Amino acid sequence: MRAVMLIAGARPNFMKVAPILRELKRRGLDGVLVHTGQHYDTAMSDVFFRELDIPTPDHHLGVGSGSHAVQTARIMEAFEPVLMAEAPEWVVVVGDVNSTLATALVTSKLREDLRCRIAHVEAGLRSHDWRMPEEVNRVLTDRLSDLLLTPSPDACANLAAEGIPGERIRFVGNVMIDSLLHGLPAARERTVLSAIGVERKKYAVATLHRPANVDAKESLTGALRSLGAVAREVPVVLPLHPRTAVAVAAHRLESLLDPLLVVESLGYLDMLALLDGALGVLTDSGGIQEETTALGVPCVTLREETERPITITQGTNWLAPWPPTPPGVLAAYRMATASGNSGSKPRPEGWDGKASERIVDAIVS
Ligand code: UD1
Repeated sequence: MRAVMLIAGARPNFMKVAPILRELKRRGLDGVLVHTGQHYDTAMSDVFFRELDIPTPDHHLGVGSGSHAVQTARIMEAFEPVLMAEAPEWVVVVGDVNSTLATALVTSKLREDLRCRIAHVEAGLRSHDWRMPEEVNRVLTDRLSDLLLTPSPDACANLAAEGIPGERIRFVGNVMIDSLLHGLPAARERTVLSAIGVERKKYAVATLHRPANVDAKESLTGALRSLGAVAREVPVVLPLHPRTAVAVAAHRLESLLDPLLVVESLGYLDMLALLDGALGVLTDSGGIQEETTALGVPCVTLREETERPITITQGTNWLAPWPPTPPGVLAAYRMATASGNSGSKPRPEGWDGKASERIVDAIVS
């Protein structure tokens, strides 16, 4: 078998490629890692490579930040010669970021020449909200892929409803949970709680970075005031995403951060430790909805909808009323945390730490 190329570009990709690379290595298969450089700094990239034990990328495209068009185009331009030189048997793309779509698109045009196929890990998730850049990336990447590897049965149903033939779809489970279960013992050794000054199960964690919540002044104000309302009941730790930090400064909303315990973006293990120790979580991240479900920690999602409905039906996730308002979010937070110790719920099927084995099985079969 020729090489399997894996693409990673942005923070939420790193915990998905790490277990797949490890599994390829375990089976003696040749894995080639391409980092597009969509996320590039220590806090958003380097710390994840270190803590998730991801080898140095074979190719680093160094594309950096830019508008969607600029970023996507730069990735495509830089990726094409790398793909041609490596001519792998498979290109494995994960998630829904610009790097996912850009590299899938380049590969699809060279599929015949290079006899190369595309596998999409985390296929089939749908928010049905085309205003989200991630929804565009997801749908188009799925259309371009030969093999659609899904994390949950609802994702298989979405793909079937779009007319994608069943032989291209494979339910493999959630590969992020492979990283979570692998990292949890080390995370529980971290001292991040005492460094921030909070005690286990006596604080909440919040994250905010979606354009719909942070880009416009009005939405950012509503979201931060909502977190402030929760902070009157329980300390709220907010690791600040760079996008949100820029927006807070641009709109001069610094005073709305005053009620919150603001810290810089955290590395993988510190964030896992913080989520694991939290009484409740408030987030607009997709990955954190999944991680809290796996950890059994109540989660309130500050979004209009979720492409991960299994975290609501079988997990610990609640959608807050949209758009976020202080009374709405506070009520949702109280409801979610009053629902008892969710930790006793079984994890969704395939969220068992073995998704990377099933992914590699699907690729080699
Ligand atoms: C991207 C993904 C989003 C994912 C998120 C996780 C797309 C369309 N969006 O959004 O799905 O949930 O990553 O973080 O691909 N920046 C830094 N350092 C970095 C990278 C970015 O400071 O290493 C700053 C820059 O100011 C940049 C801003 O963050 O302009 C936004 O980064 P960008 O990659 O455009 O998108 P995200 O909002 O992070």
